[in-house]
Amino acid sequence: MRLPADRGPITAHLFPALAGPPGEPVSLPSPAGPSLHDGDLQLALFACYELHYRGFEEVDERWEWDPGLLRARAELERHLDDALAEAVPRPRPVPPGEVRRALAGLCADGDGPFSRHLRRAATLDQFREFVAHRSIYHLKEADPHSWAIPRLHGRAKAALVEIQADEYGGGRPERMHSELFRATMRGLGLDDAYGAYVDRVPGITLAVSNVMSLFGLHRRRRGALAGHLAALEMTSSLPNRRYAAGLRRLGGDAAAALFYDEHVQADAVHEQVAAHDLCGGLAAAEPALTGDILYGAACALTVDRLWAEHVMDRWERGEPSLEPAGHLVA
Ligand SMILES: [Fe+2]
Ligand SMILES: [Fe+2]
Repeated sequence: MRLPADRGPITAHLFPALAGPPGEPVSLPSPAGPSLHDGDLQLALFACYELHYRGFEEVDERWEWDPGLLRARAELERHLDDALAEAVPRPRPVPPGEVRRALAGLCADGDGPFSRHLRRAATLDQFREFVAHRSIYHLKEADPHSWAIPRLHGRAKAALVEIQADEYGGGRPERMHSELFRATMRGLGLDDAYGAYVDRVPGITLAVSNVMSLFGLHRRRRGALAGHLAALEMTSSLPNRRYAAGLRRLGGDAAAALFYDEHVQADAVHEQVAAHDLCGGLAAAEPALTGDILYGAACALTVDRLWAEHVMDRWERGEPSLEPAGHLVA
């Protein structure tokens, strides 16, 4: 993947710095404010985090642990944290033994209107847009939550590894969920290269991934990361059934729909393992993390809802939800 185009003052400072040698001080302009929709802020953070995943062709790998960059990134993260605090109500505290029930309560609302639209009414172009947005995460599916593995122990760790083993195909590369998603992209005539649509997605789509990386890259956020994964798994099965049906309605074949079909089955199991063993196990082992587990779940649900609202709002106005190539969004 190559560095994306800059889309505001922060990335206009950051990307030329990353293209040079590490070790120089990094000073970035302050974000306009905490915002999940600020494309410049979210893209800058996304690029900082990407150094911990696959990196960029033209960026020296030593930037990953450059102290000056980490200091600058911390400031961006503070704005993301503040934006989450504004957008996401703190769930009511519960005793550790009730974490599973509390998670089920948070997840009860689901994403009804969005997945129903894709099931029944979305055009092929809209479905392709949906997949392009989702590619930002699905092409690295499961990676952000894998950061938790060395930070957990006992029942919670075993549960997370059980889930992740499925996400990574159980030893079969062609069954990795990221690979199944690439087949979906190819079936829709989309570019399945890692990061191909980073330049085309708005800030809120990047925020979906950034929240996972924020929780994943800080050990102290392990409770939120576990809750985040549980929320994804617990709200996956039904929407994926609708996505599969919508894709078939639009002429998608079995290979293109396999990613969604697979999640209908797999996530019906994963949601039990995530809620009961991962989050229940973690809350039992570290009761002080119970509130964070629920907050992480609430963050996942809220950011996903804001993303869906953004996309639906564009579609209802008869506009595409992706930015035209080369168009810079703030
Ligand atoms: Fe998956
Ligand atoms: Fe899953």
